[in-house]
Amino acid sequence: MHIPEIILKKRNGGTLSRPEINHFIDGYCAGDIPDYQAAALLMAIWFNHLDHDETLALTLAMRDSGEIVDLSAISGVKVDKHSTGGVGDTTTLVTGPLVAACGGKVAKMSGRGLGHTGGTLDKLEAIPGMSVSLDMERFRRIVSACGLAVMGQTADLVPADKKLYALRDVTGTVDNMALIAGSIMSKKLASGADAIVLDVKTGNGAFMPDPTAARQLAGLMVTIGNQAGRRTVALVTDMNQPLGNAVGNALEVREAIEILQGRHAGDLKTVSLALAAEMLLLGGQATNIANANQMLARALESGAALRHLARMIELQGGDPTVCRAPDRLPRAQHIIPVTADTAGFVAGFDTAALGSAARLLGAGRLTKNDTIDPAVGLWMRKRLGDRVAPGDILADMHINAPRNQADVTQRIKQAVMIAARPPTRPALIHDRITQPVDATIHRELT
Ligand code: URA
Ligand code: CA
Repeated sequence: MHIPEIILKKRNGGTLSRPEINHFIDGYCAGDIPDYQAAALLMAIWFNHLDHDETLALTLAMRDSGEIVDLSAISGVKVDKHSTGGVGDTTTLVTGPLVAACGGKVAKMSGRGLGHTGGTLDKLEAIPGMSVSLDMERFRRIVSACGLAVMGQTADLVPADKKLYALRDVTGTVDNMALIAGSIMSKKLASGADAIVLDVKTGNGAFMPDPTAARQLAGLMVTIGNQAGRRTVALVTDMNQPLGNAVGNALEVREAIEILQGRHAGDLKTVSLALAAEMLLLGGQATNIANANQMLARALESGAALRHLARMIELQGGDPTVCRAPDRLPRAQHIIPVTADTAGFVAGFDTAALGSAARLLGAGRLTKNDTIDPAVGLWMRKRLGDRVAPGDILADMHINAPRNQADVTQRIKQAVMIAARPPTRPALIHDRITQPVDATIHRELT
């Protein structure tokens, strides 16, 4: 088998066999296939697509490129949750404790985001003392003890994805459905959970802006998960505005805590509860959604979910008193309001631009080596459809050094569109996906 023939076959629209896909992944990981050939194949895939069987083969080959985590020492069904990524998207810190409080086992391995704000790991590290570099033994012990732990992906988890993602990032081949599905699902399958709930984002803050394409991606990932022996479902959820009010690491932890304290509500809470209900169904704690919702309401009202978060923080070396007193989280020196210039209704957000604004304040990374300031970010004060008068606060900037302040102020103003009429609001939960979605649409869209 020769890689030039495999490249030609895909370039000419052919279908790759499982051995051909294995040859590519194994050879690329071993360093036998150089970047230029891998890049050529990725571009051929981008133009000519992978069908379902090819995508499954790619996912399994990637999964098998490194260590596969064994969670069998933890009793019960281990449930994982994955979001394809959005702005103000802190669902893990709300769903994890809720599910754990209802008897679920959440063993979550996260990546470190290169996104607008940090990933879940960076958010957790905003908590004083908190460690996400756990060894596997300690990780398993914490999940067994309190139903929940979050750790960084081990260095040897899906090395094929680390190499391929870096190459896709610089060759214009990130936004391909099969490559995204392979990347995400290989890591989920290697992380050892028995069941997987996916939160596939759609809208202008997601990398799958089109809802039909997002449904398609969800269907593909759900099918791959189930075929690989993991119970998998997906919700397709809206990302046409930041999900929560907070966009920034400590701010997002604070918002999650306030939701678990029962002091804060909104779309972040709604989506987190919907994801948690799916996790309880897959984990076998609940028999139907109504039953799951009752359990979750009790876990919230009794404070049990917040106690589970505090316990996890403590077991991971962090200061659990932040759950009672979120003021102990890092706080920025200055809070500067950004106000509206005109009257009307919030008709739209450029959600990705708000994420970039937070990143410019220091809440996220542009390159792998950038450091994050956990305290900084945005607190949004308006949602889609809200009425605004001139001078109303659109968002608060939480800043330390006045770096980029004028620029970020302008960006925020431009990212909040104000119009004379209120918009039709998009659905928050677009769909629940449990099986493949018609594949003919997919080819036209990617
Ligand atoms: N997230 C991933 O982990 N991989 C992708 O390809 C896209 C998003
Ligand atoms: Ca996220």
